[in-house]
Amino acid sequence: MSGDSHPAGAGTEAPIGPEQREVEDRLVETVLSSFDGTEDPRLRQIMQSLTRHLHAFVRDVRLTEAEWNAGIEFLTACGHITDERRQEFVLLSDVLGVSMQTIAVNNRAYKGATEATVFGPFFVDDAPQVPLGGDIAFGAPGQPCWVEGAVTDTDGTPVPGARIEVWECDEDGLYDVQYPDGRTASRAHLFADADGRYRFWGLTPVPYPIPHDGPVGKMLAATGRSPVRAAHLHFMVTAEHRRTLVTHIFVDGDPQIAIGDSVFGVKDSLITRFEQQPAGEPTPDGRDLTGRSWARARFDITLAPEGT
Ligand code: BEZ
Ligand code: FE
Repeated sequence: MSGDSHPAGAGTEAPIGPEQREVEDRLVETVLSSFDGTEDPRLRQIMQSLTRHLHAFVRDVRLTEAEWNAGIEFLTACGHITDERRQEFVLLSDVLGVSMQTIAVNNRAYKGATEATVFGPFFVDDAPQVPLGGDIAFGAPGQPCWVEGAVTDTDGTPVPGARIEVWECDEDGLYDVQYPDGRTASRAHLFADADGRYRFWGLTPVPYPIPHDGPVGKMLAATGRSPVRAAHLHFMVTAEHRRTLVTHIFVDGDPQIAIGDSVFGVKDSLITRFEQQPAGEPTPDGRDLTGRSWARARFDITLAPEGT
């Protein structure tokens, strides 16, 4: 804990004597050595490190048995609410910043490659394909938004044919999978053209709360934290011999960015200008929006080589 500006047990550590400390130390050593025979060295390393950190946590806050029970009940509730459509453990990892920390560890900065951020629980594997310039909204409510850009390598070479998956919530803050009617909307995939360029119609992103009607939501409420995410549009970009990029673009000027994103996903490099266009302003592809305002955003995507 030394060097940590927020030691977890600061001011709460009970004065324990050398005998008690020795009992606790001995238990940690016994549990650690129970994993000594693990054949897979990586599994051994993970289990022993987990043991060290968990015991350090219990000792640091001098966890009471009632608190330990409450923790078990919390994890049990996370399990009970989890099914094919709802993953409370991913949500827990997200709001604790563990998802973003894992992304940071595994997606090192590489020569200006676009930064990654949290995947989230709302990606769907078999989203429909739209042509370049197509509309991914499929009737979902929201302000139309033209999004375009180019996919390149870090040396500026275009990546023709890159597969671009995009998904977002509607103006009510809901993803299609959160409706009970099985609709598919506000999600699609498309392929970059021969020059690596792409374009599509989506919706101007809005801030929305992560699902907070379960144990994770209760934890956020108990700790005075908001479930709201900064407005964003999800991207996953894949291309041969390139590192897969999972990211979002965030809306420059969204007040939620300053207030805070509930899953810590915002990175400055991903904050993008969404330019508001008045009703009647000609659209890039001549689409007739019959008197509606719209927005436009440009997001150039730089992919790192595979294995970096
Ligand atoms: C999302 O962006 O959709 C999301 C991310 C993390 C947790 C919940 C939702
Ligand atoms: Fe999202």
